[in-house]
Amino acid sequence: VMAEKAGYKHFMLKEIFEQPWAIKETLVGRLSMEHGDVHLPEINIDSTTLAGLSRVVLLACGTSWHAALVGKFLIEQLARVPVEVDYGSEYRYRQPIVSAADLVVVITQSGETADTLAALREARRHGARSIAICNVIGSMATREAEGTVQTHAGPEIGVASTKAFTTQLVALVLLALRIARARGAMTPDQVRPVLQALTELPRHVEQVLSCAPYIEDIARRFYQCSDFLFLGRGMHYPIALEGALKLKEVSYIHAEGYPAGEMKHGPIALIDEHLPVVTLAPRDHVFEKMLGNVQEVKARGGSVIAITEEGEPHLWSLLDPQRDARLVLPPVHPLMSPITMTVPLQLLAYHVAVRRGCDVDQPRNLAKSVTVE
Ligand code: G6P
Repeated sequence: VMAEKAGYKHFMLKEIFEQPWAIKETLVGRLSMEHGDVHLPEINIDSTTLAGLSRVVLLACGTSWHAALVGKFLIEQLARVPVEVDYGSEYRYRQPIVSAADLVVVITQSGETADTLAALREARRHGARSIAICNVIGSMATREAEGTVQTHAGPEIGVASTKAFTTQLVALVLLALRIARARGAMTPDQVRPVLQALTELPRHVEQVLSCAPYIEDIARRFYQCSDFLFLGRGMHYPIALEGALKLKEVSYIHAEGYPAGEMKHGPIALIDEHLPVVTLAPRDHVFEKMLGNVQEVKARGGSVIAITEEGEPHLWSLLDPQRDARLVLPPVHPLMSPITMTVPLQLLAYHVAVRRGCDVDQPRNLAKSVTVE
């Protein structure tokens, strides 16, 4: 069994550390620097059809649904087409408005989640075009959708999804770029820097993984807390949701993810010295707003676990080294930071769970893929 885990204590840890490789595999043969485009013939949907779409609908469950929420930002921002996101389990029962002018993209690691498959069937019944972003070749989702974008993460054994999630985000960047090119929303020169950033991503994730000992130390300081709040803005809001979900799944600690700007409308009432607040603060256009959130937490006696990027001078001065923690990641292209920021949250959940003596690879009550409703 140790051999299967390649020397790692758990599959979850092994799979977290496989991410640079998994991302690299997911990029192989897909980036065309020459054309400033992405090569994805397996989606089976031609440029003319992509250009004529009136909407993209992203459907998924669990962690894959968080990828869908990031996908909405990516596709709307890059391809300038409206995107709707729903849970498989909701979509199928709400008489969705969907037609042949819509592209439905189901996102599913296993390709076997019953609710996601039912949502795909519902959309196809109304004539929607369809693609599955999937990690398992030959699975139901890949057989039932017209086209696919395979994530090449390799088998994921840990019940809590890690490398499948980050490769789904990579697949969504690729799909967003392809749609953007087909619709003329981006020029080859606008696409090239993103392709360059994707090429550098495995190395950046490798650098983030080298911070693992710091995250283990943060876990040691906070593992006895009974609640956590995760805050993010924009594309990092779904990453906050994913950080909270990972912690819940493997450590059984109650955790909530929130868009940081909404904290004042409720969660702020929870803040006291017992509630650590994990703030995702990449150096983006809302960085100053996140500083405001950090101040609000500090003013109420809360502890902050700040995850930020190199080169920001302000955050540290707000924190108390005794009570707060800060993790500084390498600066990356703004479209890549949801991916790099996911990694420390996975490691935090893992190390907290191990300290609490939980069965990380097979958490109670959870299944790797839920094939019944
Ligand atoms: C289960 C797993 C989750 C996963 C979800 C969706 O609940 O425990 O980790 O995110 O199913 O799975 P899928 O295979 O469709 O991505």
